[in-house]
Amino acid sequence: MSLSDLLEEVRARPLPRHVALIMDGNGRWAKARGLPRTEGHRQGALAAERLIRFVGNEKLFPYLTLFAFSTENWNRPREEVEFLFRLLERFIREKLRELSEAGVRLSVLGDMATIPRSLKRSLSEAIEATKGNDTLHLTVALNFGGRWAVLEAARRAVARAQAGELSPEALTEGAFRALLPTAELPDPDLIIRTGGHMRLSNFFLWEAAYAELYFTPTLWPDFDEEALLLALREFQGRTRNFGRVIT
Ligand code: FPP
Repeated sequence: MSLSDLLEEVRARPLPRHVALIMDGNGRWAKARGLPRTEGHRQGALAAERLIRFVGNEKLFPYLTLFAFSTENWNRPREEVEFLFRLLERFIREKLRELSEAGVRLSVLGDMATIPRSLKRSLSEAIEATKGNDTLHLTVALNFGGRWAVLEAARRAVARAQAGELSPEALTEGAFRALLPTAELPDPDLIIRTGGHMRLSNFFLWEAAYAELYFTPTLWPDFDEEALLLALREFQGRTRNFGRVIT
């Protein structure tokens, strides 16, 4: 089936609102070609760019979140960590104008305390420059962890309680949700993980309660437009009953 036929088929049925991606397999992609891991990340960034452009141009869904760096990724060799930060900074600086013209709005999600200053600066500038766009809300999860996010909300709740602004009864599920760092985002409808592992690896936890999970052995640098459309088609074939009985 051609890409345009697949696109037409996917467009004919309800699409998710928020798709989140765990981009795994850059290292293995590079290793299979006898290249350094950093080359895998470079190709990974190109794959991310291709996908952002596709989703934005085709207006497939309004929220896309990319898991770019987890709280556990600090355990990688220092040179690899520094390379990833540089890659991201270059991506933000070089591609921003084009993505902004395509209506992309950038947000970042994660603990910014330990992110290098120059990357933080380019992120803030990009966030400011794109805040009026509304075709595609692109969130880059950076130094993000699902447990960190839940803990952040718990800390905020304790602080409010100590200030006398929150009682235990008032801390409902909805009130807690509003304290999460992801409060601005709708829950993901679909979480895609490339690279063959079937786990969430401390990505969205609270938010993933009713997400459809899609795992593919495709390594991230090979995840293209067709691969995304196949994931969307699989999503459309699933029954989402959110715990209810559907008759
Ligand atoms: C996992 O592959 C990938 C990462 C830790 C980094 C993801 C970052 C990018 C794709 C580039 C920057 C992103 C943007 C938004 C431009 P891995 O190294 O764990 O692969 P492996 O499991 O094969 O070793």
